[in-house]
Amino acid sequence: MLAIDLKGRVALVTGASGGLGRAIATTLAASGARVAAHYRNGDDEKDAAQVVDLIRKQGGEAEAFAADVADANAVAQLVEAVGGRFGALDVLVNNAGIDGPRQPVGADEPEAWKKVLAVDLLGPYYCARSVIPLMEKGKRGVIINITSVHEFIPWEGYSAYTSAKAGLSMLTKTLAQETADKGIRVVAVAPGAIQTPINASVWSHPDSLRDLDQKIAMGRLGQPEEVARVVAFLASDLASYITGTTLAVDGGMLIYPDFRQGG
Ligand code: BGC
Repeated sequence: MLAIDLKGRVALVTGASGGLGRAIATTLAASGARVAAHYRNGDDEKDAAQVVDLIRKQGGEAEAFAADVADANAVAQLVEAVGGRFGALDVLVNNAGIDGPRQPVGADEPEAWKKVLAVDLLGPYYCARSVIPLMEKGKRGVIINITSVHEFIPWEGYSAYTSAKAGLSMLTKTLAQETADKGIRVVAVAPGAIQTPINASVWSHPDSLRDLDQKIAMGRLGQPEEVARVVAFLASDLASYITGTTLAVDGGMLIYPDFRQGG
């Protein structure tokens, strides 16, 4: 039987305390990886501890690490701590992200715009540049950047988010080009509408949920595990020939279901 096997791999998942990150951390652990579950300082500590507990109860190995991914020094310390604890780092999942307030350009707050860029684009960049030396040392590595269908689809009011995600897509390709000869693969995963806290205000109301479902060819939101399984596959040697590209996990959001008729 062909199975995803991450035994012996150490994976750092940012934003692992909730939403997609939680599912990614537990799925990587279930595939055999030892997991460093990153969380933001403060409120998320309890949630991160729960994720670690869950992994341990399932027989896996995990530990929680706090850091602000938008702070280059904090990220360097985070990666050093993870390397010190586990002795290696083979997989980085840049999952931590925020969407920011919905505000059209001009009526927006530049500080809020910068914050989204700092977390969603600078964060993955800082993490990547800190882990690459460890991956080079281990002669293998996979960096998976969680983008969004909004690396392709413009989204009114979310220009910071769409710009950050499109930027992260290009960071993925450029990094892949830079590191292919070092045994490192860099891939992006673009989730569509996945049922997590980030879009709870949409899926918790029947009218906005119906509107969102209509934007998805499969007619339903995705579940975090449906993204997590793809991340685990990409992290594994089963995906040994995939680098520098984006894999959408979106139930067909990118195939313009509105064009089924008319046009
Ligand atoms: C956003 C969600 C949204 C989805 C589809 C994601 O990137 O985080 O809030 O539902 O894109 O628009």
